[in-house]
Amino acid sequence: MSDLNGPFSGGPTLNDGATMPWLGLGVWQTKDGEEVIHAVKTAVETGYRSIDTAAGYNNEEGVGQAIRECGVPREELFITTKVRNPDQGYESTLKAFEISRKKLGLDVIDLYLIHWPVAGKYRDTWKALIHLQKEGLVRSIGVSNFQVHHLQDIIDDTGVVPAVNQIEFHPLLTQREVLKFAKAHDIQVEAWSPLMQGNLDIPLLKEIAERYGKTVAQIVLRWDLQQGVITIPKSVHAERIVENAGFFDFTLSDDDVKAIEGLNQNHRFGPDPDNFNF
Ligand SMILES: NC(=O)c1ccc[n+]([C@@H]2O[C@H](COP(=O)([O-])OP(=O)(O)OC[C@H]3O[C@@H](n4cnc5c(N)ncnc54)[C@H](OP(=O)(O)O)[C@@H]3O)[C@@H](O)[C@H]2O)c1
Repeated sequence: MSDLNGPFSGGPTLNDGATMPWLGLGVWQTKDGEEVIHAVKTAVETGYRSIDTAAGYNNEEGVGQAIRECGVPREELFITTKVRNPDQGYESTLKAFEISRKKLGLDVIDLYLIHWPVAGKYRDTWKALIHLQKEGLVRSIGVSNFQVHHLQDIIDDTGVVPAVNQIEFHPLLTQREVLKFAKAHDIQVEAWSPLMQGNLDIPLLKEIAERYGKTVAQIVLRWDLQQGVITIPKSVHAERIVENAGFFDFTLSDDDVKAIEGLNQNHRFGPDPDNFNF
């Protein structure tokens, strides 16, 4: 793990040689237009260099506008988007990618992900992502919501290991099996809903936060970092966007890291990747 304490710049090296920031701004449920433009610009001003959107969030245009207007050179930013489920399949993914690229107004996307492992489709979608990377239109390719058997399936099918697996990951869902597989195969894990969608009212986390003089959000995000997991908290509020970047200046003890892991209940706030119908 490189540059563990480097705020914003630096981050883990992916299995394709690219570097990805430890922290990004998530923009799910952030409205296109003013809301997302303001959130992205605030994040970039704060120092964030990574933005996580998706075709399915319907805000790629606003993200693109904010990128153009934020004053930071494009090459210093790391932009992720994802192919939505109805667009999966080989040809339809290539078409969907072009639409995302246009909406974002970018020549090259830093990271393109398969949003969900749609049965009967995700293998062909993965082949389309491999093609896009070969064409130089995407720097890194990865997946989201893949369980171990989905990962093994696309690796066996193509020999190409995803650079990233973005999964629901937080103290109530610690995903040991996926983490172990990812480590063994050099797949970078990225946490979605790292803040449990705002459900931060957990006594142990509050007690730890008080001890470190930090907020619960900062404790949880630091816990991600110390496990080598990239994190992408979402907020549309400037003070929270700043707060959520404040976890690079302290270290949780091993005992506290373990105690937080002990909160696991395999509880999902989002859908189960083995049982979804969208
Ligand atoms: N790949 C996937 O399938 C998938 C699924 C879900 C999410 N994601 C990605 O992961 C990102 C993050 O996940 P998420 O948006 O579900 O949830 P999250 O980041 O865990 O939590 C966001 C919620 O917490 C609130 N919040 C933010 N900072 C806070 C703080 N410091 N203290 C208290 N509350 C705070 C936000 O409210 P305000 O905005 O009002 O501040 C919002 O309601 C998404 O935006 C998206 O980019 C990916």
